Amino acid sequence: MANRRVIIVGCGGYIGSHLIDRLLEDNSFEIFGFDISSHKIARHLGNPKLHFTEGLIDAGNTETVLRPALETADLVISLAAVCQPAEYVKNPLLTIQSNFIDAYRLVDLCAKTGTWLIHASTCEVYGRTIDSYLPDHSYDDPRLFEQIEDETPLVMGPVVNQRWTYATAKALLERYIYANHTELGLPFTIFRPYNWFGPRMDFIPGRDGEGVPRVLACFMKAMLEDQPMQLVDDGTARRTITYIGDAIDAIMAMLARPERAKSRIFNIGNRDNETTIADLALMMREVYAEITGLERYREHPIETVGSGEFYGPGYEDCDRRVPDLTRAERHLGWTAKVGLRETMERTMRYFHAAYADDVAVKDRSDLAGISP
Ligand code: UGA
Repeated sequence: MANRRVIIVGCGGYIGSHLIDRLLEDNSFEIFGFDISSHKIARHLGNPKLHFTEGLIDAGNTETVLRPALETADLVISLAAVCQPAEYVKNPLLTIQSNFIDAYRLVDLCAKTGTWLIHASTCEVYGRTIDSYLPDHSYDDPRLFEQIEDETPLVMGPVVNQRWTYATAKALLERYIYANHTELGLPFTIFRPYNWFGPRMDFIPGRDGEGVPRVLACFMKAMLEDQPMQLVDDGTARRTITYIGDAIDAIMAMLARPERAKSRIFNIGNRDNETTIADLALMMREVYAEITGLERYREHPIETVGSGEFYGPGYEDCDRRVPDLTRAERHLGWTAKVGLRETMERTMRYFHAAYADDVAVKDRSDLAGISP
């Protein structure tokens, strides 16, 4: 059978790099990848099944750059995004630009050519839970916090809280995709990731990136550089953390069952892996002590910091994210398998191997078997 031809916009990022690992391993795909950087996929650049083009795909050049590949593509996967919360409040225009304006022309092009678009959205489109706005806020009633794809309202905060620039841009793109589907017949699938953790996520500031990454890299940086881990607003926010390998399984299940995946929005998460951010910090100290063999990490300092101080004005947090996963199970035959502790062990082993050499972590454990 001929290879399926897949365009991936944003192929060089964290999710793209793991997806490319898997697509190349599968051997039945030919990939046309586009991104502004390629260091996370550097080891694949010589592979004849990966055709990589470096550069930003934006509203102005989508048609000219992508049209030739689209003429023969079976599907497009769009992964490009600015997705660090610190950017949403510091660079709201960039956030809207990246997550809506640079992206909507791709939707047009897929609608015009009738090409299946698989789009990475975010669980953040649900915003805050309804429960969090109630005076007797208690999480007693799952109907007020569980997130069901086609039922749960999307609850964004006020415009002056620019945290929501990202969620609103992502939600508008979802609506744009859906409108193209209903009016023009665009074949689509949207998935909403729930805190996918794993090797190569984000960057360590000052080493391979600048700015404030998401919580995993922030806590890793703190331990690698002997600084306190900082809990924003006491770390009471909750997240459900999904191992990247499980998440990639879900995308592969979409590719294996196009007719079940098409015309649907999927939550892709692991509700068994729910934790407060404060508990995540405690677990990461324990895991890092085991990885390094250094007991002192069990007592690594943790301090609290206000969100205004940490992110600047305009930050507001998502309080809790519990996905309903019935649809992913029913149509994709998919459930996440890797527990929270195992997720953190696998992920932190990678961060240790990748970053600990040039800092004061001397007592390295056996790193054999760590994926790059
Ligand atoms: C982000 C994106 O906005 C989502 O779109 C995306 O789906 C999600 O990451 C993801 O990784 O899937 P969020 O979970 O809020 O959402 O991002 P993080 O920066 O990882 O923050 C998680 C929690 O940790 C927040 O409560 C934040 O305030 C807290 N945090 C972050 C700390 O307590 N300390 C830190 O050093 C950094």
